[in-house]
Amino acid sequence: MPDSPPSVPRRYFLETYGCQMNEYDSGLVSGMLEGLGYLATREPGEADLILVNTCSVREKAEETALDKLVSIAYHKRRNPAVRLGVLGCMAENRRESILERVPEVDLLLGPDHYDQLASALGRTSPTGPVSALGHAPSQTYAGFFPAVPSSAIAQVAIQRGCDKNCAYCIVPTTRGPERSRISGDILEEVRRLVDGGVVEINLLGQTVNAWRADISFADLLRELGKLGGLRRIRFTSPHPRHFTESVCRAMAETPSVCPHVHAPLQSGSSRVLRAMRRQYSRDQYLSILERLRRWIPDAAFTTDIIAGFPGETEEDHRETLSLMDAVRFDQAFMFAYSARPGTPAAELVETISDEEKGGRLAEIIELQRRHAYQRLDERVGMVEDVLLEGASRRDPDEWIGKTPHFRKVVLRKPEDAGPGQLLKVRILSRNGQVLRGECA
Ligand code: 5AD
Ligand code: SF4
Repeated sequence: MPDSPPSVPRRYFLETYGCQMNEYDSGLVSGMLEGLGYLATREPGEADLILVNTCSVREKAEETALDKLVSIAYHKRRNPAVRLGVLGCMAENRRESILERVPEVDLLLGPDHYDQLASALGRTSPTGPVSALGHAPSQTYAGFFPAVPSSAIAQVAIQRGCDKNCAYCIVPTTRGPERSRISGDILEEVRRLVDGGVVEINLLGQTVNAWRADISFADLLRELGKLGGLRRIRFTSPHPRHFTESVCRAMAETPSVCPHVHAPLQSGSSRVLRAMRRQYSRDQYLSILERLRRWIPDAAFTTDIIAGFPGETEEDHRETLSLMDAVRFDQAFMFAYSARPGTPAAELVETISDEEKGGRLAEIIELQRRHAYQRLDERVGMVEDVLLEGASRRDPDEWIGKTPHFRKVVLRKPEDAGPGQLLKVRILSRNGQVLRGECA
């Protein structure tokens, strides 16, 4: 099939799985493609280039992306001129399984190689897909900026990779060693976003509060706090160990830094935490949260928990539940342990049956639901600052916004209010995990 004439713009379809870092990376890739003259399409059948940005964090994530690739490859079978590319963590980590299941794939780019997209698109290979894989430990995409989103909230990657090597985690394998972008590039990116109408940013890194480049993370927060027009600063995902006194202080003293802390726990048992190589014990985790509470008395805490790590006993599991009772997290992402080939934990004997794992996860989810409801109920009657995000999908007359503590609020907005606007909202009630409010 001949190439499209230059007057007909090429179209790309890009689907993203996984974490916010993957979403950010897809924004980088979209920016690059649009710079090359491609237009985005939501219809893979219309696309000259189909890309799937993939995640390896749990087996389920990989299966979902593989299923998507299998079905989307139909478009390439129908029109062999279409390019079908895999980006992200699975490209890096699962090359063989991808090609076995989806031989139509003709482009594989790992997370450190998106800057080679243009040249890769200009090449074809008779012997297999055009690939750029492996770690490039200094890659920070300096000089590349993602397209400014149309929303009021934007993600900003400030760090890539991870040096923590938690026993269960595939990220150091897929994304390589930790590296930080310099503050000037970050500030420039945030300024561009604010000029484009963004009022809230979410700083991204696998251990984001370990960020350190030309200045410290605490000073980066303070510098961002000086940017006029930037109303809210959040960051994810931090590592508990890096909530130093100076980071906590900078959070407390920078009004635009939200009083919401994501503090991934993983387990409430010191024995399991040691096996996970998390670098803190149960008591250390609790004292880190105490430190945060001393600086930010009203802080909301959210977390990640893994049920059924190899060797976890019923007693270890009870310790997770009791720690949850002690903290009462606002929200949690809760997972059944999933062995990832290539990680240290994948070498351990799995001692827990799927039923037991599922039972423990269900107990964790149920307890978390109760805590979330309690924490939300405590806000009823209060007036909160709500940043409007957009209309609810279910009812366009209802709008969704968030409080500084990251609690979701549904309300009827004033006629003239739009996304990105901050409103004073009286909280009237709770419906499931969502608060209902009215303009105060
Ligand atoms: N199994 C289950 N959950 C995992 N996570 C990371 N690796 C695994 C795994 N192998 C969870 C952790 C992490 C979150 C992003 O995903 O809780 O914080
Ligand atoms: Fe998934 Fe982790 Fe890769 Fe993000 S970094 S896409 S969560 S494996």
